[in-house]
Amino acid sequence: MAKTRSRGPVTLTPREVEGMRKAGALAARILDEVAGMVKPGVSTGAINDLVDRLTREAGATSGPYRYTGGGDTPFPKHCCTSVNEVVCHGIPSEKHLLRDGDIVNVDVTPVLDGYYGDTSRTFLVGRVAPEARRLVEATEGALKAGIRVVRPGATVGDIGAAIQAFIEPTGFSIVRQFAGHGIGRVFHGPPSIAHYGKAGTGEVLAPGMTFTIEPMINVGDWRCRMLDDGWTAITADRQLSAQFEHTLTVTESGCEIHTVGKDRIGVP
Ligand code: MF3
Ligand code: CO
Ligand code: CO
Repeated sequence: MAKTRSRGPVTLTPREVEGMRKAGALAARILDEVAGMVKPGVSTGAINDLVDRLTREAGATSGPYRYTGGGDTPFPKHCCTSVNEVVCHGIPSEKHLLRDGDIVNVDVTPVLDGYYGDTSRTFLVGRVAPEARRLVEATEGALKAGIRVVRPGATVGDIGAAIQAFIEPTGFSIVRQFAGHGIGRVFHGPPSIAHYGKAGTGEVLAPGMTFTIEPMINVGDWRCRMLDDGWTAITADRQLSAQFEHTLTVTESGCEIHTVGKDRIGVP
């Protein structure tokens, strides 16, 4: 009998959830360390190197490294660094120095004992313009709004609807091309968690279901385009985009977030 169901939502046993706790805690700790180094003049390549080192020191590997995601271009680095108009999957580079006023999302996914812990935060680099700060705060709020509705009996559509209700009054837009995903002993599994939607629709949540919520929010239009490196997604209108992500498991009464760190993020 197959150990992992290939069609239904990723649903984990208590023992597997324990594995997710450890992988998630490592992912959060890595981002806590990254938080301490993000400043003007630091390269995104240096962030990658720190993520790589901390991952290896913990006896883990990096999910992103050589990941193809079903496409044909292996991701060349250990984390994603998405600066300003980059929506997601930015590739770290020694040549890309962060500048005063940038926003940068760092997305890490260590794999510990076979379990994937996937989390990201958007950091402010130096002194950031009020609108960019407002975007980052709204995006963090969107993640929290999505997490808040997770409980048995709620639906995937409830998550998207909650995020949409939170973001609409801000005037920002929600990226539709990328979604949260089931996660466990696989990086990306079912279900897909859209960050917009209609309450009461889609898969019904049940205890053990384990997935990410990772809204990408744009200042301008929600549309994205792909750079020809095969990975980097940018906003079509080149305006700013931000993202936050947590990995969580549905419990009997709500959910357990595996990737909460020393940030104020993720405590809904
Ligand atoms: N961590 C990303 C996610 O949230 C996936 C990155 S895949 C990579 O799903 F190859 F671009 F790293
Ligand atoms: Co993810
Ligand atoms: Co991620």
